[in-house]
Amino acid sequence: MTVIDAGPVGEIRIAPSILSADFGELGRCVEEVDPETDWLHVDVMDGHFVPNVSLGPPVISSIRNYSARFFDCHLMMTDPGRYLEAFQRAGANGCTVHVEIGGTVQLIEQARALGLRIGLAANPDTPFEAVATFLRDIDLLLLMTVFPGFGGQSFIGDVMEKVRAARYEVDRFDLDLDIEVDGGIDVDTAPLAVSAGANVLVAGSAIFAKSDPLGAAREIRAAAMSARS
Ligand code: DX5
Ligand code: ZN
Repeated sequence: MTVIDAGPVGEIRIAPSILSADFGELGRCVEEVDPETDWLHVDVMDGHFVPNVSLGPPVISSIRNYSARFFDCHLMMTDPGRYLEAFQRAGANGCTVHVEIGGTVQLIEQARALGLRIGLAANPDTPFEAVATFLRDIDLLLLMTVFPGFGGQSFIGDVMEKVRAARYEVDRFDLDLDIEVDGGIDVDTAPLAVSAGANVLVAGSAIFAKSDPLGAAREIRAAAMSARS
């Protein structure tokens, strides 16, 4: 399958998180939202960095049969370096690691050597300064708007201050960097995040827990676009 690339940096991207999909019907769920979404957000949890376990490379290679989208893999793991190659082989296109685990420089190098796009994630209580020094070396900054581990949590609005700080730096230095938010994104919070400067919007329960996931994704995109104009 020819994968659709990540697209121009800075454009609005809707990235449904499969964590809230029905894992028994993952292929169908992924196909259903395809026309209204851009990337597919894949949450990998190791039961150590976060108190939950989700999925790994075999699931990623299975869903590759159902989607040509850019697979944006969010690695909530203590030791992602051990598995980056396995994710890349399974069909990951971008991998995002958390800054809180350390070893960021080596992880960026390792991901680049594998031809992956590399993202760096920060938890809601991690200061902007922790990621600021890496902005020139990464493709995506993920600013978590919930504490990672579970879908369906409430959006933490205080994180918008950090999103504004990141957007200011990106614009000031004309950096090639996407700014992603993840957690509690829906039709009400997407415009807040876009106004603050985010351009990649991850939404799990606001898409897959709805009776009309495709319509829900379309509404989130419309809400996000209205905040840009
Ligand atoms: C949380 C995950 C999210 C999650 C978002 O740890 O990283 O991607 O699926 O779910 P919602 O959109 O329901 O907050
Ligand atoms: Zn995520």
